[in-house]
Amino acid sequence: LRSIQSSLRRSKNLLPRRGYSSDSAPERKVAVLGAAGGIGQPLALLMKLNPLVSNLALYDIAGTPGVAADVSHVNTRSEVAGYMGEDQLVKALEGCDVVIIPAGVPRKPGMTRDDLFNINAGIVKSLCTAIAKYCPHALVNMISNPVNSTVPIAAEVFKKAGTYDEKKLFGVTMLDVVRAKTFYAGKANVPVEGVNVPVVGGHAGITILPLFSQATPKANNLSDEDITALTKRTQDGGTEVVEAKAGKGSATLSMAYAGAMFADACLKGLNGVPDVVECSFVQSSITELPFFASKVRLGKNGVEEVLGLGPLSDYEKQGLESLKPELKSSIEKGIKFANQS
Ligand code: NAI
Repeated sequence: LRSIQSSLRRSKNLLPRRGYSSDSAPERKVAVLGAAGGIGQPLALLMKLNPLVSNLALYDIAGTPGVAADVSHVNTRSEVAGYMGEDQLVKALEGCDVVIIPAGVPRKPGMTRDDLFNINAGIVKSLCTAIAKYCPHALVNMISNPVNSTVPIAAEVFKKAGTYDEKKLFGVTMLDVVRAKTFYAGKANVPVEGVNVPVVGGHAGITILPLFSQATPKANNLSDEDITALTKRTQDGGTEVVEAKAGKGSATLSMAYAGAMFADACLKGLNGVPDVVECSFVQSSITELPFFASKVRLGKNGVEEVLGLGPLSDYEKQGLESLKPELKSSIEKGIKFANQS
């Protein structure tokens, strides 16, 4: 376990550094909704490895007693409990600091994320209604797709309940960042551990806009064609996995990793660790769109600051303009759904 923890730590501070041990970390309850699913199970395991978590609540409509019993045997800090079915949702949510939502159906080959809307919109709406009731102050990490619509749905549900706090609602776009870093490191031939690439916009197709002009370390060996190919591969990364899994779902393991990294950043922010900055799809005024993914500084209340886009290349400026109509309509679709039913 120690060697897994140290390699996770090296890979990017998933776990706290020495001197910030679980002895000094405050109690934090984290719930995973959809915990028995393809993402939920490995995500539950990774959250169990995180010493910032004191209580881990695993909720699903089925299968959680087994997952919880299994994960609970791992000898790390958190107490694990499994909750199954709607009548146990209240217990899963009460007292939560962070709620991670990977509940819903994943894509099959040929489907877009928007094709999931009809099923997942309803699931997200009902889960968010419960969050507003039982843990209105929790940070919500929305993984369920289409994120470009499910985050606006969550915002509307919280507004109606009178609990909306824009600092506490996050669309998880971290997998796009994880992919951009991996693909860039491979192409630029630099060690992946030190790579940083902001990814902005949204979380579907062309709305995913990696800013390779701001990638660090700088790579002087990449042509315009390389940047175009890297951008396309980042945008289509999810589809690459969907096709390779040939009908057995979408990204689960890399998503669990990305989700665990993002939740860890939220927990660090809550605990007052300074300068925690990650990309996320949040309420935003950096463009004319009401929600937008960009770098966000995390703090004790959730979003401390939505950071600007920084200087863009001409290619990225073009990408930004092309993504706006699609992102706008996905946001509006979510808002309309939340308000009509
Ligand atoms: P999955 O089908 O393996 O698991 C989903 C789980 O949600 C199942 O265990 C199911 O029982 C549960 N569930 C369904 N309705 C529920 C409800 N009302 N309350 C609680 N749990 C409920 O799917 P997978 O692969 O884990 O994907 C989950 C979601 O994550 C999908 O919407 C997928 O598109 C999305 N996703 C998002 C990514 C991102 O980057 N944000 C990346 C990959 C997937």
